[in-house]
Amino acid sequence: MEFKHTSVLLHETIDNLKVHDGGLYVDATFGGGGHARYLLSQLKEGTLVGFDQDEYAIKTAQGNFADFLQADSQPRLELVHNNFSHLTEELEKLGHGLIDGIYYDLGVSSPQLDQAERGFSYRFDARLDMRMDQSQDFDAYQLVNQYSQKQLADVLYRYGDEKFSRQIARKIVEKRQIKPIETTFELVDIIKEAIPAAVRRTGGHPAKKSFQAIRVEVNHELDVLQASLEEAIKLLAPGGRISVITFQSLEDKIVKKTFKKYSEVEIPRGMPVVPEGMKPALKLVTRKPITASAEELEHNNRSHSAKLRVAEKL
Ligand SMILES: C[S@@+](CC[C@H](N)C(=O)[O-])C[C@H]1O[C@@H](n2cnc3c(N)ncnc32)[C@H](O)[C@@H]1O
Repeated sequence: MEFKHTSVLLHETIDNLKVHDGGLYVDATFGGGGHARYLLSQLKEGTLVGFDQDEYAIKTAQGNFADFLQADSQPRLELVHNNFSHLTEELEKLGHGLIDGIYYDLGVSSPQLDQAERGFSYRFDARLDMRMDQSQDFDAYQLVNQYSQKQLADVLYRYGDEKFSRQIARKIVEKRQIKPIETTFELVDIIKEAIPAAVRRTGGHPAKKSFQAIRVEVNHELDVLQASLEEAIKLLAPGGRISVITFQSLEDKIVKKTFKKYSEVEIPRGMPVVPEGMKPALKLVTRKPITASAEELEHNNRSHSAKLRVAEKL
């Protein structure tokens, strides 16, 4: 099976992990495995554990990475079909202890957007879905048809920074009283109707922000991130590194805040030396996030909003 996805900040993400032979690494968001293949090319022996909550990503990887999945392969890949909110428990099940590095490449993959039936895209007509994990019950159809007007407006405003969140929420509630809103194109038409015509003609696609917001809520994207980062920091061996690529400011804020929390300590007044138990767990490798080079910006549209932060366990 094909998985067409151009990896963002590929070398910057992996090179900063300082991969060494015999190490244990985790790819929290495997997708098409672009980052994974580059990491594996740097390991003569050692293991990479790849997580993805999307069954399509895992199934494709089982074919495309078959050689690395053999029990005696060196380096070896192990795949986990689960949310990265279950890092500790899944690594334990595989018999692993501390890890030497982990990376996250957040958000959606190109196939998720490009396969019309996944219902992620305002460009294709499909049933409202947007679940990354197809075994999850809650989907965009339920959100759009069951959330209260206030809940809808809050989601659109908080996760999409949508200026017309209240107007769109009101229009959704008005329309669904006539019949349930079933498809992406029905939702696009409702959003267009709710936004003033003059605004609609400026900027990007009128449904872009709302679709992003609904996707983030359906997949609980921000809810699981901080807890997973904290688990990852605990799982890192001393000297181990964590790289995180984000694509929107709320995600980047969570990464920045979590790295700050673990890299700073408040020294009690009058105490000349920081007691052992109070030393920070992390050292920042990047004070400012790394962004895409001019060359990458030119040929990978997704790289425009990408920010990479890296930290090291002390
Ligand atoms: C941007 S893609 C990763 C692309 C990959 N780095 C590559 O080079 O091909 C993000 C992937 O992460 C997965 N994902 C997003 N959030 C996740 C989560 N909380 N747990 C597990 N997988 C997640 C998505 O299903 C998607 O396949």
